[in-house]
Amino acid sequence: MTCSAACLVGLLLGCLWVMPMVKMSTPADLCKPMHTLKASLNFTNRRQYMKHNFPINYTIRVHYEEVFRVSNISRLKARIKGVQVEDLQELWLLVNQEVLKKVVGVLPERHPSRRYSCNLEDLLGKVQQVFQMVQDRRDESEPPEQIQEIWERVRDPEAAGWKWVKPKALLDNCYRTMHCLFNDCFQAPEQEDYCDVRHWRKGNKKQHPQA
Ligand SMILES: *[C@@H]1O[C@H](CO)[C@@H](O)[C@H](O)[C@H]1NC(C)=O
Ligand SMILES: *[C@@H]1O[C@H](CO)[C@@H](O)[C@H](O)[C@H]1NC(C)=O
Ligand SMILES: *[C@@H]1O[C@H](CO)[C@@H](O)[C@H](O)[C@H]1NC(C)=O
Repeated sequence: MTCSAACLVGLLLGCLWVMPMVKMSTPADLCKPMHTLKASLNFTNRRQYMKHNFPINYTIRVHYEEVFRVSNISRLKARIKGVQVEDLQELWLLVNQEVLKKVVGVLPERHPSRRYSCNLEDLLGKVQQVFQMVQDRRDESEPPEQIQEIWERVRDPEAAGWKWVKPKALLDNCYRTMHCLFNDCFQAPEQEDYCDVRHWRKGNKKQHPQA
């Protein structure tokens, strides 16, 4: 087989053309790790690993800000001028990484929920990695000050304002807010809105049996 110089040049050009496309991450790339995370956070797993494996009514101490519910999202959007969905996505990542750290922190080495929780931490880490790559391509703009203040309080072990919350409730929040904030990956059925707290109410099982 003969490959002429022109053919080689063509091949090279082809490579140059394809390479940047491989390297660029788009928001859609987030959906793969998001879907893996969602599968792992399914109702059965949350109930088994975050409720049944714990003593009845067991609670974990978290910052107020780590109770990040669907209702918080609309409140933050209304309260903070110019907040972008990416700012809230980033906040979601930070909050839930902290939440999982706290869950793992109360689990002894051989606890039956330990592997599951550590795996969730890894899955969130994967989402974070892709998220970062996508963000690096956006214009560098600082998140609004109020968001940065929430970050600081979440990161500050001395910050005032703690609550005792059941681990399953924390992961339920994670699961629901994930659907609202990453709705490019989680298309809601028609006339349903994952950002609407009514969607997640008990009794709305018909539309969302795994809520
Ligand atoms: C939840 O995920 C586990 C595996 O992680 C799987 O065995 C189980 O069938 C799933 N449950 C539902 C209701 O999808
Ligand atoms: C758990 O909490 C519920 C609701 O607050 C309460 O009714 C129940 O008695 C508690 N169970 C135990 C074992 O403390
Ligand atoms: C969510 O709302 C609760 C009050 O219901 C508040 O304590 C908490 O700080 C809020 N979380 C965030 C991240 O804004």
